[in-house]
Amino acid sequence: MTLEYSHPLWDNFQQDLSSVEDLPQLTEVKDKYLSRQRGELSLEMRKLGSLPAEERPQAGQLLNRLKKAVTKALDQRQRELKEGQTERRLKEETFDVSLPGFAPSLGSVHPIRRALREMEEIFVRMGFSVLVGPEIETDYYNFEALNIPKGHPAREDQDTLYLSENLLLRTHTSPVQIRTMEKHQPPLRIVVPGRVYRRDSVDATHSPMFHQVEGLVVDEGISMADLKGTLEMFFKELFSTETRVRLRPSYFPFVEPGAEVDISCIFCAGKGCRVCKKSGWIEILGAGMVHPRVFSMVGYDSERYTGFAWGMGIDRIAILKYQVSDMRYFFENDTRFLSQF
Ligand code: PHE
Repeated sequence: MTLEYSHPLWDNFQQDLSSVEDLPQLTEVKDKYLSRQRGELSLEMRKLGSLPAEERPQAGQLLNRLKKAVTKALDQRQRELKEGQTERRLKEETFDVSLPGFAPSLGSVHPIRRALREMEEIFVRMGFSVLVGPEIETDYYNFEALNIPKGHPAREDQDTLYLSENLLLRTHTSPVQIRTMEKHQPPLRIVVPGRVYRRDSVDATHSPMFHQVEGLVVDEGISMADLKGTLEMFFKELFSTETRVRLRPSYFPFVEPGAEVDISCIFCAGKGCRVCKKSGWIEILGAGMVHPRVFSMVGYDSERYTGFAWGMGIDRIAILKYQVSDMRYFFENDTRFLSQF
């Protein structure tokens, strides 16, 4: 901006203005010239009164023009500074909206839970109900009512974790058989998933806590053939239609007869491989016909009713199904492992 005349105040002002870099500095310059009390221009104006009357109009006009010019220059600079500020902010705060965002890491279903769900679904389709029972049990439900009286050698086999003389962490899901039969009359078709505990050291195939699915069917005329047929159908659904089932005589105090149940190896179809140790068979569960003494403990008429029961390890089935080499992976909470499911 130029004026058609020169004035020392104008020259000073222009110099001050040229060094202004931001809005606070601009306010300072504005105050220096225009502040009512101390502004240099305001002071000049106040001096007008002391001029001789004939000089006053011209000097007054000059100062007015000067004040207009100063105000205009300040306004313009203010606009420039504000625009610059906006531009800078736009530049600094711009971000690329097309960049992919940070995906939240999602959890996944634990392999044990996943295997269990699949197993439950099959049993539910076959007409079973799913029940659960307590993990802290009494001696009576875990042993006594299952025909394992005090002093019975089967108690020693199980390495029970006791909480007190009478309370313990259940060593199997079989106590829920008793709890259910106490409350319900036959016919009965139930599966019972849950955690069980034994005093085992941890290694690739053992854990002091693992999972079982108990099965119990009670009705008139239930036979060992029903047990085999039910399990065969279940494993064909779970693994493949090629899967076969075999029963080997075994002993559990709460069944008679008792059996160990094997399935044909799901990896070599029975030909013999590393997983089945060349036998072609994989041991998968314990089962049998419910012992008449168990029926009498719950008040069932063992002349009228028969039934079968089994207990299968979920962890073992998950290991086979997902081909996991070490059971410890299931319980170490390493998300690199868990997120694969
Ligand atoms: N409860 C037995 C165990 O944990 C398995 C089993 C259940 C066997 C039912 C027979 C009948 O080893």
